[in-house]
Amino acid sequence: MDQYVIRGGIPLHGEVEIGGAKNAALAILAAAVMADETITIENLPNVRDINVMLQAIENIGAKVDRVDLHTVKINGRPIHGCTVDNEYIRRIRASYYLLGALIGKYKCAEVALPGGCAIGSRPIDLHLKGFRALGADVRVLRGMVVAKADTLVGRHIYLDKVSVGATINIMMAASMAEGKTTIENAAKEPHVVDVANFLNCMGANIRGAGTDVIRIRGVQHFHAAVYSIIPDQIEAGTFLFAAAATGGDVTVRNVIPKHLEATIAKLLDAGCRVDEFDDAVRVSARGPLHSAHVTTLPYPGFPTDMQPQMTVVLGLADGTSTVTESIFENRFKYVDELAKMGATIKVEGNIAIIYGIDRYQGARVCAPDLRAGAALVIAGLAAEGITIVDDIYYIERGYEAFDEKFRSLGGEIERVSSAKEIQKFKLKIVS
Ligand code: UD1
Repeated sequence: MDQYVIRGGIPLHGEVEIGGAKNAALAILAAAVMADETITIENLPNVRDINVMLQAIENIGAKVDRVDLHTVKINGRPIHGCTVDNEYIRRIRASYYLLGALIGKYKCAEVALPGGCAIGSRPIDLHLKGFRALGADVRVLRGMVVAKADTLVGRHIYLDKVSVGATINIMMAASMAEGKTTIENAAKEPHVVDVANFLNCMGANIRGAGTDVIRIRGVQHFHAAVYSIIPDQIEAGTFLFAAAATGGDVTVRNVIPKHLEATIAKLLDAGCRVDEFDDAVRVSARGPLHSAHVTTLPYPGFPTDMQPQMTVVLGLADGTSTVTESIFENRFKYVDELAKMGATIKVEGNIAIIYGIDRYQGARVCAPDLRAGAALVIAGLAAEGITIVDDIYYIERGYEAFDEKFRSLGGEIERVSSAKEIQKFKLKIVS
């Protein structure tokens, strides 16, 4: 099993280039199969979940041509089946986007129930309710979602809960339904807008993405398109919080600062200096970190995917902070791991009460999921001594060249796969 080994305590300095947004890319790859002409997608992050999705669409017959690490050409014309099931696709959450894409285009889809990070019960009832409202017969049979329709007909759909996945999925299916669909109480996340822009680029007629009412007029065909995915606000935020935790000075490049507003607001609350540029954000954290109070909320609120990274920063702040998780019910599992590094955090229901300490101590910890894994790496970079992070498989689902990017900022971190390599790392840093 691969691990990261880290010698912490070095403030991170420099500039880092942010890749394309994983969560936007996963939906866009699924949506690309709806066209019978070639779709070129640029700024694709080269991470594991993306490769699993590409493999899945290739398995149903789509032509997938990986031009380079960050560009792919997809043509859905040769698709010969609507059944998607393999051990890898079952582990990713975004497999559900193939439901919306296939039911929209082919009026049939059979996709394994989604997996993803274990951060709560994560139902997909709203997705299924949306497909049913459009006229599909949807059942769950032997671990598969099976959806069929003679025709899909546009409807007025109200989402009981703000859901990124359900908004995107219904938007995809409705973009090829007959007539008009309105999605009310829609999610407003930047990647909802990105997917809508992409669908429009292929010929869809979607208005209002980015507000809580999305109006879609169905079309019959999608055509060729070239599209570049938006920058990953979560990757960017992760590096900004790493700068804060290590007392460093880091600029993230190729970002849309507006998407980072909630993150920037909390960095300012924590006492960091933040400078915004056209497509870059710089954070410097020279003085002590201050306590703060954070609640995760749908966009434009503070993103739940930044919650563990924020907690790691607040663990080093003066005084007592609170982090309230309002999206997922079980997103504090990493706190026990952080406690091994000296953090003093009490979890009561969906609130973490954080009593700041001066410094984390290096320890052997285990990444429980993608974002929590990234947060433990940040803690390791800030800690005194050596930290080993196990189960980095989770981290590699969503971060490209994570160790390499930290090394470019001066962090001492290596990806290793044996005790011998850990020993070698230790010898290198003492010499
Ligand atoms: C997506 C992201 C994930 C991010 C989350 C919130 C992907 C692949 N994953 O997950 O990284 O943390 O948005 O920004 O893009 N809910 C229901 N029924 C449903 C759907 C959702 O009750 O049918 C609930 C969920 O349990 C959760 C809330 O709605 O409490 C929001 O979930 P949602 O926005 O759908 O998150 P995901 O699409 O799973």
